[in-house]
Amino acid sequence: MKTTSFTVAIDGPAAAGKGTISKAVAAHFGFAHLDTGLLYRAVGAKVLNGMDPLIAAKTLEAVDLDSEGLRNPDVAQAASRVAVNADVRAALVTFQRQFAARIGGAVLDGRDIGTVICEDADVKLFVTASSTKRAQRRMDELNAKGLGLAFGDVLADVEARDTRDRDRATAPLKPADDAVFLDTTDLTADEAIARAIEYVAAVRS
Ligand code: DC
Repeated sequence: MKTTSFTVAIDGPAAAGKGTISKAVAAHFGFAHLDTGLLYRAVGAKVLNGMDPLIAAKTLEAVDLDSEGLRNPDVAQAASRVAVNADVRAALVTFQRQFAARIGGAVLDGRDIGTVICEDADVKLFVTASSTKRAQRRMDELNAKGLGLAFGDVLADVEARDTRDRDRATAPLKPADDAVFLDTTDLTADEAIARAIEYVAAVRS
């Protein structure tokens, strides 16, 4: 068994279940977890407040990531827009790679972890689900916080982001050649988590 660093890369489109799976895998194995979407959301939020995207990316601090205000559709769209910018992406690479290299293991989730950030990750998972299922889950999650969103708007939001994330020139959303697919459309969260843990455990042993 590898005991120094062990990296799990979890990529996929918006609201496929990456966050839930990543948190649970990290907790199960005692690994650290980085939701890399938060980096782009934090930059997006600063841009919505008038800051230059590259300055926002270069001056990002841990405290910027710790905000419930980052979990809303406007910030998600702003994140997806700044994520197209190659200079913004480049400014965020070192932090992510250092996080991945930490002793004891790390789970990173995002769009380009298995393809760009951690090309040598020990485990690469590509988590998918139908867009209607993803929109339903995202709507339930946001409406539980009182946002009162309509299904059609959430679906349009998720699909617009996926299209932008897939079509961009730099580090687009796509599965790494050596990624294993996990389709969560018909799985409960517990079932999806169990499959991910089973796979990581098999690679690790
Ligand atoms: O995972 P999320 O929904 O919080 O991500 C928000 C946006 O950030 C997403 O639409 C695209 C961008 N992103 C990215 O380009 N690369 C990553 N590794 C993570 C997120």
